[in-house]
Amino acid sequence: MIIAIAGKGGVGKSAVSSLIIKHLVENKKTPILAVDADPNSNLGYYLGIECKSAISDLRENEFKKNPSGVSKVDWIDLKIQESICETGKGFDLLVMGKPEGPGCYCAVNNLLRDFLKKINRQYAFVVIDNEAGMEHLSRRTNNEVDVLFIVAEPTAISFLAAENVKKTAETMSIKIKKKYLLVNKLHKEHKNQHKLDGLETIGNVKYNEKFFNDFENKKNIFNIDNQEIKKDIEDIMSKAGIL
Ligand SMILES: Nc1ncnc2c1ncn2[C@@H]1O[C@H](COP(=O)(O)OP(=O)(O)O)[C@@H](O)[C@H]1O
Ligand SMILES: [Mg+2]
Repeated sequence: MIIAIAGKGGVGKSAVSSLIIKHLVENKKTPILAVDADPNSNLGYYLGIECKSAISDLRENEFKKNPSGVSKVDWIDLKIQESICETGKGFDLLVMGKPEGPGCYCAVNNLLRDFLKKINRQYAFVVIDNEAGMEHLSRRTNNEVDVLFIVAEPTAISFLAAENVKKTAETMSIKIKKKYLLVNKLHKEHKNQHKLDGLETIGNVKYNEKFFNDFENKKNIFNIDNQEIKKDIEDIMSKAGIL
């Protein structure tokens, strides 16, 4: 199952991705591949993983150096495989990194697309934390996305941005089976007044001061125990039919 998370910068995509990954790990829905597809990679921070290798560090000339006896395709797959950070905790992390320089990235994207299609079979779940615009998603995977969560804060401006993400998603060539709006950072005393036409709101994750401070204090999702947020994510995952 492929789960993708999208939305404007700062709404909480990476925090929500890490919550989803933790929820899957706790429910033994492993192995999981976490994909950090935001050029400002920080999913590793949320997950408590220092992953030094990124796909964008792979240069095309490296791909050309396949040793004799190893096919080009196998060599490329091996190189990409080597960039995956294994954690031994039920999930691995693949960091896309920053596209650098004109022309040197598209080919890697294409290779990656084929690779993701193959590697998909090795994992029970793939969770993709996207960049704000989400434009790259269709270039990076041609797998069907099972569930797309568009994350928004409960503000008019954030909902406008979410609407744009929804439109982008609708014009993409890849098939997205289910799309939901996920409202994050809802203050307890507030009720979300915003709606997005044609997109079901799957649930809310409350704004939680302690959750915020824990990340500020360099904790990661696996050493944060926050019952309020946990409950919110559980509701969303079950309503979305994931588990
Ligand atoms: N439910 C929440 N309650 C409190 N703080 C949150 C919540 N969700 C996210 N945050 C905080 O909001 C900030 C942005 O979140 P982040 O996941 O990095 O956003 P994005 O990936 O969309 O750019 C971070 O400081 C994060 O800790
Ligand atoms: Mg992020």
